Amino acid sequence: MSQSRTFHTASSKKLILNCNDCIIGMQQIPRQSVDLVITSPPYNLGVKYSTYNDNKSRDEYLNWIQKWAALVFECLSPNGSLFLNVGSAPKDPFIAMDVAQKTATHLVLQNTIHWIKSISVDPHHFKNKIPGNEAISFGHFKPINSNRYINDCHEYIFHFSRSGNVSLERKNVGVPYTHKSNITRWKSVDSDRRCRGNTWFIPYKTIVSRSKQRPHPATFPEELVERCIRLHGINRIRKVMDPFMGIGTTAVVCAALDIDFIGFEIDSAYFADCLQRVEKRLQTESRNIFT
Ligand SMILES: C[S@@+](CC[C@H](N)C(=O)[O-])C[C@H]1O[C@@H](n2cnc3c(N)ncnc32)[C@H](O)[C@@H]1O
Repeated sequence: MSQSRTFHTASSKKLILNCNDCIIGMQQIPRQSVDLVITSPPYNLGVKYSTYNDNKSRDEYLNWIQKWAALVFECLSPNGSLFLNVGSAPKDPFIAMDVAQKTATHLVLQNTIHWIKSISVDPHHFKNKIPGNEAISFGHFKPINSNRYINDCHEYIFHFSRSGNVSLERKNVGVPYTHKSNITRWKSVDSDRRCRGNTWFIPYKTIVSRSKQRPHPATFPEELVERCIRLHGINRIRKVMDPFMGIGTTAVVCAALDIDFIGFEIDSAYFADCLQRVEKRLQTESRNIFT
């Protein structure tokens, strides 16, 4: 049954959360009224969602991708961006690319970002900077039983736009130069800030109890959402949309950053969690910065 709830931020920005099929919901959104879509659909890799069946035939799944991607295209403003997070699995390495290709029938792939969830760095790469002579690991490495595969530590964030020519605020998510001589060496450099590139290391937070703290099998971190918002340019955004809200990570970040939001989630249990999380975030006084 479709249900809708609207929250307001302190400055009267609207967060409209819908428990509904996004294919139905997006048809009711005015054309070109959304500046930024940040989302992660199910990957069809057999994840155990509470109601959604993540085991469709390849054709059925990819036809469905094409259907909602067409609606995202309709909703997106001329200079809008879609940040589409998709992962794959060692047994199905092409699924993320297949999703990107279907989406590319409607939108132009402008950037491909690798979301690095965990990484190990050998000591010769950090010597003189950090003490120690053993590899340092960041993020979580789930033990795997097979000798055939190595740990899958990354996912994709495909950045699509209508034209492939949308300017981004790279320095908003930039980093300082390691070698400061670069600031004076290049004419185009005017500050100690450079583009951070397309490898984003964002680990999951360590959780104690999955059922209490992560009641959904496939969330993305708040930091990832915030980075997409800042890269697109926070001051250029009238409205953010997430067609596959899950437990509402994108909505929560929009609540914190005071941005209009609309989203859809088909599962009523996840939707209930989403409402709770957004309500809680709105009760937090500060405009929280996650990074
Ligand atoms: C990968 S999860 C998104 C998780 C979300 N990014 C978060 O951090 O909580 C995909 C979600 O899409 C939902 N879903 C599947 N089909 C849908 C549809 N047609 N309309 C809306 N939501 C749908 C699933 O129930 C699932 O919660």
